[in-house]
Amino acid sequence: MSLINVADARRAAERRLPRIFFDYVDGGAFAEETLRANREDYGRWTLVQRVLNDISQRDLSTGFLGQRHRLPFMLGPVGFLGLYAGGGEMAAARAAAAAGIPLCLSTFSIASLTELRAATTGPLQFQLYVMSDRAIGEELIAQARAAGVETLYLTVDTAITAVRERDVRNGFRSLTRITPSLALRLATRPAWCLDMARAGLPQVGAVKHRPEFGKGVLEQASNLSRRIDTRLSWKDVDWLRARWDGKLVLKGILSPEDARLAHRAGADAIVVSNHGGRQLDGAASTIAALPAIAEALAGDLEILFDGGVRRGADIVKALALGASGVLLGRAYVYGLAAGGEAGVARIIDHLAEEVDITLALMGLTSVDALKQRGRDALRPR
Ligand SMILES: Cc1cc2nc3c(=O)[nH]c(=O)nc-3n(C[C@H](O)[C@H](O)[C@H](O)COP(=O)(O)O)c2cc1C
Repeated sequence: MSLINVADARRAAERRLPRIFFDYVDGGAFAEETLRANREDYGRWTLVQRVLNDISQRDLSTGFLGQRHRLPFMLGPVGFLGLYAGGGEMAAARAAAAAGIPLCLSTFSIASLTELRAATTGPLQFQLYVMSDRAIGEELIAQARAAGVETLYLTVDTAITAVRERDVRNGFRSLTRITPSLALRLATRPAWCLDMARAGLPQVGAVKHRPEFGKGVLEQASNLSRRIDTRLSWKDVDWLRARWDGKLVLKGILSPEDARLAHRAGADAIVVSNHGGRQLDGAASTIAALPAIAEALAGDLEILFDGGVRRGADIVKALALGASGVLLGRAYVYGLAAGGEAGVARIIDHLAEEVDITLALMGLTSVDALKQRGRDALRPR
């Protein structure tokens, strides 16, 4: 597979996936302004080049979420990995484990936590959406505990789902079953169809045993989305904190005020995230929001980061601005759709190499040295 960078993987994913799924992954909310800003705003910062430092010994390992990881990034929660490649969750988990980094499984996954646990020995993390019916949340928390999940992410930027216009155009939003017209469109990607046929009827692993969610991934996902609790508030973080004694991360924080509230609510970390430009269109890019959040927290609370990461330099900039670790989203999903487990591994290797070369040419021999240098490693453009 000749994927030289994430853009190559994106093109390969576009060729392999039915349009309706490629657009679901690739698109953002409304005018996609925040989606674009997530990429463009990395350009507001330049890297400081330093020379003549012995860089012969280099180390990309670093600590985040209480553990040392081989790389400063991990695979974040993305829904329906099993629709982009057969057994997609397992493929991503194996690639992550081989690279010594965690994968966070989304609530909206084809594989259940139990299936994933059986497929990999790597560290497991789980992302939770809280439904109005708290019994479902309790059950998911119990499953997470039983599967040995160490870190639970509560995603807080998705109380309602924004309109993604590409999905409206493709009829994705209203889809609850495979119609004849959809079947025709899927048939334009025979390799993908074959892969899916081999993997069997996709269902949402977390709720497939609950008949009230219906049958098949489309109906189950639509029922799940409708049940996400729109009344969720800071009180509910207490509810969750009382039931989860592992690490608790609030994902989807974009303002210094909410970052402080997350600290007060007893979170162990936040993810500075705008859901990859899929929710509040017009919101700040994450790389623009990060410095003020880091300043407001002043080290009181750990910061993870995601949004538009496609290059090693993006990761370096987020770490310099105060993130302890970075979550990949679409970057690894393009790799997964392009080439399954090998495709994810290729993207991880590629980004690791870019981070390594970037640091070395900045005169830095480790990720920890970058974190220490912090903002001095960058200049505003
Ligand atoms: C197709 C897709 C599905 C996603 N599903 C979830 C999800 O189920 N839960 C969640 O917390 N975030 C989800 N996200 C958001 C990602 O975790 C992450 O915040 C975002 O993808 C980062 O931006 P990037 O893709 O530009 O790197 C999803 C993102 C995409 C692209």
